[in-house]
Amino acid sequence: MSKSKDSIRLQQLRELKEKAKIGGGEKRTEDQHKKGKLTARERLDLLLDPGSFEEIDALVEHRSYDFGLEKQKYLGDGVVTGSGKIDGRLVFVFSQDFTVFGGSLSEAHAEKICKIMDMALKVGAPIIGLNDSGGARIQEGVVSLGGYADIFLRNTLVSGVIPQISAILGPCAGGAVYSPAITDFTFMVKSTSYMFVTGPNVVKTVTHEDVSFEDLGGAVTHATKSGVAHFACEDEKQCLQYICKLLSYIPSSWKERPPVKHTKDDPDRKEENLNTIIPENPSKPYNMKHIIEMVVDKDEDGSSFFEVHELFAPNLIVGFARLSGKPVGIVANQPSKMAGALDIDSSVKGARFVRFCDAFNIPLVAFEDVPGFMPGTYQEWRGIIKHGAKLLYAFCEATVPKITVITRKAYGGAYDVMNSKHIRGDFNFAWPTAEIAVMGPHGAAEIIFKKEIEQAADKEKALEEKVEEYRQKFANPYIAAARGYVDDVIIPSETRPKLIHALQVLDSKVDENPMKKHGNIPL
Ligand code: HXC
Repeated sequence: MSKSKDSIRLQQLRELKEKAKIGGGEKRTEDQHKKGKLTARERLDLLLDPGSFEEIDALVEHRSYDFGLEKQKYLGDGVVTGSGKIDGRLVFVFSQDFTVFGGSLSEAHAEKICKIMDMALKVGAPIIGLNDSGGARIQEGVVSLGGYADIFLRNTLVSGVIPQISAILGPCAGGAVYSPAITDFTFMVKSTSYMFVTGPNVVKTVTHEDVSFEDLGGAVTHATKSGVAHFACEDEKQCLQYICKLLSYIPSSWKERPPVKHTKDDPDRKEENLNTIIPENPSKPYNMKHIIEMVVDKDEDGSSFFEVHELFAPNLIVGFARLSGKPVGIVANQPSKMAGALDIDSSVKGARFVRFCDAFNIPLVAFEDVPGFMPGTYQEWRGIIKHGAKLLYAFCEATVPKITVITRKAYGGAYDVMNSKHIRGDFNFAWPTAEIAVMGPHGAAEIIFKKEIEQAADKEKALEEKVEEYRQKFANPYIAAARGYVDDVIIPSETRPKLIHALQVLDSKVDENPMKKHGNIPL
């Protein structure tokens, strides 16, 4: 090849690459910014380590000839795909470009996403999808629907093999919502993103409800009401930062251990405040998050606790933290919300989190103060039995190191569910304030001393006495400790060193479930 021909070819290649970067053009990029949104490439710049992005398929075009599409071709076809690094660790990404046909999914667009998903699976690295799309490319019809199905299949097959993270940064409607729904974590951004199966117009026609985009499927709705979103972020920048933070707790694939982060926090640190945090009155609430924060590693920017699903079912707290640098998954009852009772939403939230941690070798630490499952027709008619069973099933099947700290109440079925010894809890600790019983002393006394109380001259006094008698006998950790159902009753201030030691002991733990095709979790 002569020198001039060579330079012409290089020039041509450079021009093509530049063209691919322009997406749908200046005007549409301006419109995107006016909506408070970043472009597909600006998002990747914020997400990935500088200069680490390696794009593939930038020259892909759609193959459609209907509705004049043959005259509208954009290099890359509405999605930017490739690999990059976050904190030096390899990730695969796709970032939909709303400036090209509204980020809608064509056959070619779907093929690009599938290609990097396949690569992520083979390599064993997380896949992150930045979604901003009007859904199926309407001009392409069923071919586009097939493209979605190809993605859903991959989402399902790689589930539990590599972490899958979805950020919703614009529209995500119709069947398109099911890809993020299968992935492990969904991030949304307040005011600029929404997810729904059918939009407000169809809702109006079918159910006659008047509802806005935001109310129907905005970030706050999905973070509080439906639980579809694990995080509702203030803006795109925060969303992309949170994704990086989340990745710092999780391994790149199920074959790896989670990344360790050096900490200056003393593993033997004692927290004297823990000795007095439980109120004298057992019906008085306290904030379990304070306990978690006092126990786990403190980073330069505060506690290492990173809460997941903060706004959904707050009666159960789930999230990641580190103990002596090693990531753990925290599952904790929250006595300051619904007295920490387990209901449908919290059971489902907890079950999904426990299963994620188990799939990716993240040890589980449960902090327990639970008066039981939530009673009432609302819960029963909606299936608290089968939904509560999900959390039970998830803890039962988990084979990662499992530790429990009972801070106060461990009543009824909820005692069993919250990672009890009987379901393979490895270390079960209780504080001296623990009350481990079939039910609370009040309810118990009313049932077992019913006759004595009825016959007493002063019924109220008799009840009070019997409640106290029951409390003395059963509402403590020592009967469980005598049977070995708790391994130790510990001084609360020593919880951190106890947990860190337990995790060290369990570092090489191996446990297995019976061979099977797959279990049948009560869905
Ligand atoms: C082709 C689309 C498109 C689509 C948007 N565009 N959605 N092109 N297929 N699905 C194009 C528009 O024609 C426009 O092109 C550009 O993208 C920007 O769209 P606007 O409407 O101008 O933007 P905006 O006002 O912000 O509205 C965004 C929107 C709206 C709410 C997403 O575009 C919309 O309602 N789109 C259709 C959504 C939809 O019904 N999708 C199908 C869902 S069903 P120009 O050239 O003007 O820039 C589905 C099934 C999946 O997805 C099933 C999987 C199993």
